Amino acid sequence: MNKAQTHQLLARLIDRIATQSSDQADAMMTEDVPDFLSTERAARERQQFFLDTPQVIGFAGQVARPGSFMTATVMDRPILVTRDEQHVLHAMVNACAHRGARVAYGEGVGRRFTCRSHGWTYNARGELLARPKAECFDAPDGGLSLIRLPVSDRSGLVVVGLNPDMPQSRVDQHLVDIESQFSGFGFREMHTLETRRFEVRANWKLVAALSYESYHFATLHRDTVAKWFAPHAVHDFFGAHSRWAFARLGTDQLRDLDRSKWPDTIPGAVSHALFPGTILIGTPTDAQLLRGEPGPTPDTSVVYMTGGYRDPAQLEQSRAGWALGIQAFEGEDLPAAEDSQRGLSAGRTRLLIGRNEPVVQFWHLQWRRALGD
Ligand code: FES
Ligand SMILES: [Fe+2]
Repeated sequence: MNKAQTHQLLARLIDRIATQSSDQADAMMTEDVPDFLSTERAARERQQFFLDTPQVIGFAGQVARPGSFMTATVMDRPILVTRDEQHVLHAMVNACAHRGARVAYGEGVGRRFTCRSHGWTYNARGELLARPKAECFDAPDGGLSLIRLPVSDRSGLVVVGLNPDMPQSRVDQHLVDIESQFSGFGFREMHTLETRRFEVRANWKLVAALSYESYHFATLHRDTVAKWFAPHAVHDFFGAHSRWAFARLGTDQLRDLDRSKWPDTIPGAVSHALFPGTILIGTPTDAQLLRGEPGPTPDTSVVYMTGGYRDPAQLEQSRAGWALGIQAFEGEDLPAAEDSQRGLSAGRTRLLIGRNEPVVQFWHLQWRRALGD
């Protein structure tokens, strides 16, 4: 967001805190519980939302410099993203042409990638450079590159297509409706604190929904998030994506201040939800990326949570913010999602989504619409 957009959003937040209210939907809605239990629905979501839709897997800052690389596991597939010396971004399946082992781990700087198993070596474009005992293999080097995938960082985020046949234009266009809102968050300069992986006994949509509303702050997060943040939220929709924001307690005091003295960033958190269920939270100094995906059965999911920081001089502050985020997510949100899944599996036929959960409503409609249900 530019300064004017930021101040507009801030004015709405201040008004919501001052009036102790939040943006609302027009009516309550209900959702069918079988959507969280059905293997048929889960198979369609897996194929359509995850395998055939571009996925946001990281911050562009993770692969900003020539010679940098990052790895990720997406839908159980190992992915390698590199930036070559000509600044060109590449994405590949991180699986060696010899016997499939990974050729890179973690992230950092690396111009050559040597497989730990038998030493086959690739360049940043995934081309095979060398292999021990080459004379024992009749296949020529040229046909043994890593499998290439479409990738884009035009939004400041790393977006990949898991299907090698996905057109490049689809990954380029995936965030086109919302990407103008990302300016000012520094996703292109983000360094990584760490990535955590969680196996969760709950449908991925139940996990995602916890990041779509502040209704649970005062109860589930009364000892963590609610100590710092006001639950009064504003939301906006951008094509297939959404954004909602909440501010630090006391932000309404800015109301008495001339706007020229307001901060250039939202003193709170701006949570973008990106299709199908990726959460991107930006704060004045940090960012978090929560990537939830379906597990092997409808009642399981896998979540990858990456913490990013912009300014090395404020690393300690960033670490503290990350620790609070992990504490709330792992200790409070995920158990709540698992509890919900257990309850829904026990015979309830529908769940309710209140007027005060407009972003949850948006996403349930969005998922249904995308599946043609
Ligand atoms: S699996 Fe990579 S060199 Fe053998
Ligand atoms: Fe939460």
